[in-house]
Amino acid sequence: MTTEPPALHGPEFEADPHPAYRWLRENDPVHRVDLPGGAWAWVVTRHEDALRVLTDPNMLKDPARGHETWYRAGLGLPYDHRPSLVRSMVNADGPDHVRLRRVVSGAFSPRRVRTLRERAERITDELLTVIEESEEPDLVRDLAYPLPITVICEVLGVPEADRPEFRRQASVIDSASYDEVRAIAGATDWFDSYLGDLVDARLARPSDDLLGDLVESHRAGELSRDEVTSTAFLLLVAGQETTLALIGNMLLTLLRNPGAMRRIRDDRSLLDPAIEESLRLESPLQNATWRFPAEPTTVGGTHLEAGEPVLVSLLAAGRDPERYEDPDGFDPGRGAAHLSFGQGAHFCVGAQLARMEARVAVGAVLDRLPGLRLAVEEAELRWWPSMIMHGLFALPVEFDRRK
Ligand code: HEM
Repeated sequence: MTTEPPALHGPEFEADPHPAYRWLRENDPVHRVDLPGGAWAWVVTRHEDALRVLTDPNMLKDPARGHETWYRAGLGLPYDHRPSLVRSMVNADGPDHVRLRRVVSGAFSPRRVRTLRERAERITDELLTVIEESEEPDLVRDLAYPLPITVICEVLGVPEADRPEFRRQASVIDSASYDEVRAIAGATDWFDSYLGDLVDARLARPSDDLLGDLVESHRAGELSRDEVTSTAFLLLVAGQETTLALIGNMLLTLLRNPGAMRRIRDDRSLLDPAIEESLRLESPLQNATWRFPAEPTTVGGTHLEAGEPVLVSLLAAGRDPERYEDPDGFDPGRGAAHLSFGQGAHFCVGAQLARMEARVAVGAVLDRLPGLRLAVEEAELRWWPSMIMHGLFALPVEFDRRK
């Protein structure tokens, strides 16, 4: 075992980040990491400390305006500090956060999600028909990627004719590595101007979709125009890449655990707990949840000054042996709670939607692709080169074709 902290970047980490997080949990659970953008942050890897940071009212998103600039520059994220894209709930605290969140929470209620389910089933059915006929099927490219982005376009009200370009620009953002930040600034420019045009269109003509609701809130004086476009952009980014990673990571987990896949195929009551287990084991977000202490504080024995950036490592927390027995094992019947949708005031707004999409997509794969197996060696699979997100570029598979 090395005595040096492992790097949270580079080929070894990207191929499998879990050993690095194990080292940190055991040796340096509140770890100071230098970030590619030149900034630094504390990375919190133990479950207990992660839960504490997420739920502590002293831990804020933006105690002094300007921290969002740190976040983006520090992590080398492709979103610039432009008011039309960053004025959303995920960057807000207190009454501002409540106001920004209230406007969209109804759109993702269990009742609204039930009505979206039928649509998700139809989209999935069409995607699987293409997959069944495909010479080189890829469950990330052909299913995990198109399903969530099509659903979020429907929820927001992105016209069908615009969706191919919308998808293309979103995929530029999704697959960004730290080195490509500048190159993909064009995609954020595109979203900035596209979402601005959509808002103008809704201002001229109201519509019965989430963007229409946001524009009505703007008219009623509840949201600024920047908050409308920022919220739409957040929903796109937060709702798309994450769900894509959930579906892809879960399918890979099933391929690695054929016994568990058979159990779930035979007993569908295991599908929902298996989705939670997959979220715990291969959290789509690694270190995307950040906070700043409003006052000096101590986390896991480490002193933090006010305003110092803290990244909560959900991927590491999901495998903490202090919290989970056999933490690296996949047990669809485990039924344990996890932090992969966050916790506290910022708990994921779209958790029900993401779970529904995973249920529909994975259920359909189990129904329609008998004998499912990887078409390549596992070592050939490529993960996104990121310490923020945790998802696969591609998942090529084979299955028993119907004669
Ligand atoms: C917040 C994870 C899907 C919308 C969060 C947070 C996490 C998370 C960890 C907390 C962020 C924090 O505390 O800083 C996930 C995962 C998903 C998923 C793993 C899929 C598997 C979705 C979907 C949507 C969505 C489908 C909507 C379309 C949001 C929004 C927030 C959020 C708007 C901000 C909430 C707030 O700041 O109050 N998500 N999410 N997410 N998520 Fe999700």
